[in-house]
Amino acid sequence: MAIPPMFGPAFDADPYPAYDWLRRNAPVTRVPLPGCEAWLVTRYEDAAVALSHPALAKDPERGSPEWRAASLGLPLDHRPSLARHMLNADQPDHPRLRRLVSAAFTPRRIAGLRERTQEVTETLLAAMAGKDEVDLVTDLAYPLPIAIICDLLGVPEADRATFHHHASVIDSAAASAVEEITKATDALELFLADLVAGKRTHPGDDLLTELVRRPDITPDELTSTAFLLLIAGHETTVALIGNGLLALLRHPEQLAAVRADPDLLPDVIDEMLRYDGPVRNATWRFPTEPVVIGGQEMLPGEPILISLLAANRDPAAFPDPDAFTPGRIGVPHLAFGRGPHYCIGAALAKIEGEVAIGSLLRRYPDLALATDPDQLTWWPSAIMRGLFSLPVRLNEPK
Ligand code: HEM
Repeated sequence: MAIPPMFGPAFDADPYPAYDWLRRNAPVTRVPLPGCEAWLVTRYEDAAVALSHPALAKDPERGSPEWRAASLGLPLDHRPSLARHMLNADQPDHPRLRRLVSAAFTPRRIAGLRERTQEVTETLLAAMAGKDEVDLVTDLAYPLPIAIICDLLGVPEADRATFHHHASVIDSAAASAVEEITKATDALELFLADLVAGKRTHPGDDLLTELVRRPDITPDELTSTAFLLLIAGHETTVALIGNGLLALLRHPEQLAAVRADPDLLPDVIDEMLRYDGPVRNATWRFPTEPVVIGGQEMLPGEPILISLLAANRDPAAFPDPDAFTPGRIGVPHLAFGRGPHYCIGAALAKIEGEVAIGSLLRRYPDLALATDPDQLTWWPSAIMRGLFSLPVRLNEPK
């Protein structure tokens, strides 16, 4: 039997039957993508090995000429001022860049971001008051993480609308024309260079100010790190809130349980991440020498995608994997990756998810989907999984 289609609206709407087929019949296989082929890894055990494999590099320059010609890594991967960040780096640069940023994620800064997350959430929820129907992606999931990233990086209030605009064009990358993305990227590149320069002359109490004070980071690495935090910390959290709320609203028993006992919320968020997480495939990896995973030999430069969604529904790792069951015990899910590139913002993302979803459920106890879930449309992206919109009826208490 042939490999099921791996792109298109039907696959984007529900990729899980195709992943199930692959896990059973071709767990490590080559799949056609626009412009080139790539390896796709779908079983949990193979995914966990691949994510931590020392001979799988992240540097896009290690990709085969076919992969680079297909430009699947977006034009962004080739600009030194945006591409020299930890997610594109291997030894010895990766640990250096990662340490610099982790050092800035201090408990004090995280606690401050929790307070800010609550404040921004309250403002967004207050703006919904009196409406019958709202779109939880546009009205909550999208604006919250961008406000928090702006705080973290120290983007001045006056510049936030511009920042937001460029970021939203790049975020909708898969849906936008290449020229449009390139224009927004040019603008963002200049914006970030100005922002970094501003931190040197007008230091603030923010992560970027801490980074500019360090002698062991180059100007390109500084702007690239700011860019990575913006992209990695934004779209992913939008998708956690959107996909997660959809899953919960489709499971009334679990919804009732968490309303009755808000202490269940961290387990619910964790299951949202496993059941329908924001990251479809981990970002590209390339063997630096022949590597065997799941019995298949991959040659140097061949692009590899590791399907986090497929791994997180592997029945060998998660009993009854298609059920939404908060409080699972056993192996951890892979929604934040694994190994040296494990998500640096996982704690912050969970805070944002808990605060946004917890506050929404408290304020609107009768919240309900306002559309047939099968009519919802999903981002057409090779890396991300998220909803364009999530219309709900607020059913505000009188
Ligand atoms: C890396 C998921 C939120 C910053 C990663 C990776 C995953 C991931 C899967 C590893 C990618 C790979 O190995 O190819 C998520 C999810 C999030 C989220 C599901 C939200 C629910 C955030 C936030 C931030 C952030 C809020 C920052 C404020 C990063 C960074 C890396 C990363 C900097 C690169 C780490 C490295 O290369 O060492 N994330 N992320 N993420 N994430 Fe997140």
